[in-house]
Amino acid sequence: MRKVVIAGNWKMHKTQAEASAFVQQLMPQLDGVPDDRELVLCAPFTTLDLMANKLKGSRVKVGAQNIHWEKSGAYTGEISGPMLQEIGIRYVVVGHSERRQYFGETDATVNARLKAAQAAGLTPILCVGETKQQRDANETEAVITAQIEGAIADINQYNLVIAYEPIWAIGTGETCAAEEANRVIGLIRAQLSNSEVSIQYGGSVKPANVDEIMAQSEIDGALVGGASLEADSFAQLAGYQQR
Ligand code: 13P
Repeated sequence: MRKVVIAGNWKMHKTQAEASAFVQQLMPQLDGVPDDRELVLCAPFTTLDLMANKLKGSRVKVGAQNIHWEKSGAYTGEISGPMLQEIGIRYVVVGHSERRQYFGETDATVNARLKAAQAAGLTPILCVGETKQQRDANETEAVITAQIEGAIADINQYNLVIAYEPIWAIGTGETCAAEEANRVIGLIRAQLSNSEVSIQYGGSVKPANVDEIMAQSEIDGALVGGASLEADSFAQLAGYQQR
């Protein structure tokens, strides 16, 4: 069974005080959300311990936004799998386009980070997506295929979530048409040996468009930036098609 995963990616937002207030506002709003939906909040490193404590025993899982491929070592500024695992982190975003664009992430480092996440018992959320330029040059399929191929070599596909995030749709308000996201996600699925991997769409997902996105046959969830920063809005996303 393909699992529905609704995940917020807070990026570099929220202090501990803000994260605390968010959790307090969110929890009472999740009452009517069907149990079979996995809810995840991927928070900045400094809030992870607090988030994991506050959400312990609740249905909301906590995710990190990056992970190093070694367990420990001389890697200033990095955080390892065992460090995340120790404090109760269950998911980790790997290969987000912002990390590929600003921090030199490559398919090879993405592959190494995916392996480290799985080795630490975390579920990685692998992000792939094309730029506007690549889409306009009809390179979308080739780019996505190469990113998936490079990332998933020797990866356990039974502990993996993938997010298709067209870069031109991130933070722009310009959502990829639901049918087009569905088509690309179908192509990604065709590349996998496990056809039941949950594949999310990400890029300007909001309460106003989530129903249509989630109605698509290949789309198993959403990875949400901006609209995950307010508790009300994240609760509405979690409760898609129920409100
Ligand atoms: P937005 O939802 O703000 O477009 O961000 C999407 C994203 O990058 C999630 O990882």
